[in-house]
Amino acid sequence: MRPITHEKLPENPCKVDWNQLWKEQVEKLPKKKDLWNSIAPQFNEWMDKDDYPAEFISKIKIEPNDTVLDVGCGNGAITIPLAQKARSVTALDSSTRMLEFLGKKAGHPSNIHMINKGLEEVDAQEIGYHDVVVASRSLNGIADIQAQLEKLDRIARKYVYITLWGVDNRKFENEMAELLGRESHQNPEYILVYNILYEMGIQANVEFLKSNTRNHYSNMDEALDRIKWRIGDLDEGEKSIIKKHLERVLTRNSDGSLTYTRTNSKWVLIWWEKSHPS
Ligand SMILES: C[S@@+](CC[C@H](N)C(=O)[O-])C[C@H]1O[C@@H](n2cnc3c(N)ncnc32)[C@H](O)[C@@H]1O
Repeated sequence: MRPITHEKLPENPCKVDWNQLWKEQVEKLPKKKDLWNSIAPQFNEWMDKDDYPAEFISKIKIEPNDTVLDVGCGNGAITIPLAQKARSVTALDSSTRMLEFLGKKAGHPSNIHMINKGLEEVDAQEIGYHDVVVASRSLNGIADIQAQLEKLDRIARKYVYITLWGVDNRKFENEMAELLGRESHQNPEYILVYNILYEMGIQANVEFLKSNTRNHYSNMDEALDRIKWRIGDLDEGEKSIIKKHLERVLTRNSDGSLTYTRTNSKWVLIWWEKSHPS
């Protein structure tokens, strides 16, 4: 048997560039960045019956004196409950209309400070240190994710919490795309982000959330709206194909709402504690 030596191992020639893999997959996805303004009113309604915010917030360690940065805060489904628990929240979002919904909910005076910019457009210095950083359901469209993860880590004093699409989150929409003969691209797997963090020296925690709202629709029109949001506009012929399919696969509840029961829509929570508080 060869003795164990302390020779330096050669650099691994097969080292995978996780950030590049993430980037290539994100670049194939339909671009959402400019669409958040147009979907804001519907998103605001969808959030009224979303069980995800409560589940996400239940995971966050927060103290009354903490300052929070909420990246991609949207209409405030996460921001408002966080502001009730923290000293203040900086709410960052590239969508003006989303921030308008948040502004109405927050009222005046408020401990929420809004910034209408994309994460990529701000630097850590401009935002300043915050005790807790959250980026809930807002990082999936960012191609160069590593640079933004480094920024979030730099800003946080205590904790960072992010959520990403779970493995089967797009199954339903993929089925619809297949039905129409459209190409359907998957969001990159969360494990790529885990690996990027690992190589940044961060050993993150991973939890699978169970919230199910994405599979629950008030009526057929809402189901169609959500599918359009995922796979793009539908012409009349396509709408009728999808409608027929939905009538077959969705379960009609006694209140007229519709549920898709075959999969659970899961978000993946990745969070870490800062090892060297700034
Ligand atoms: C699915 S919503 C999530 C809203 C909220 N965080 C939640 O979980 O309910 C995504 C939000 O992130 C915002 N967003 C997406 N990419 C962003 C970026 N690169 N910088 C800032 N905001 C972004 C969108 O405008 C949208 O309001």
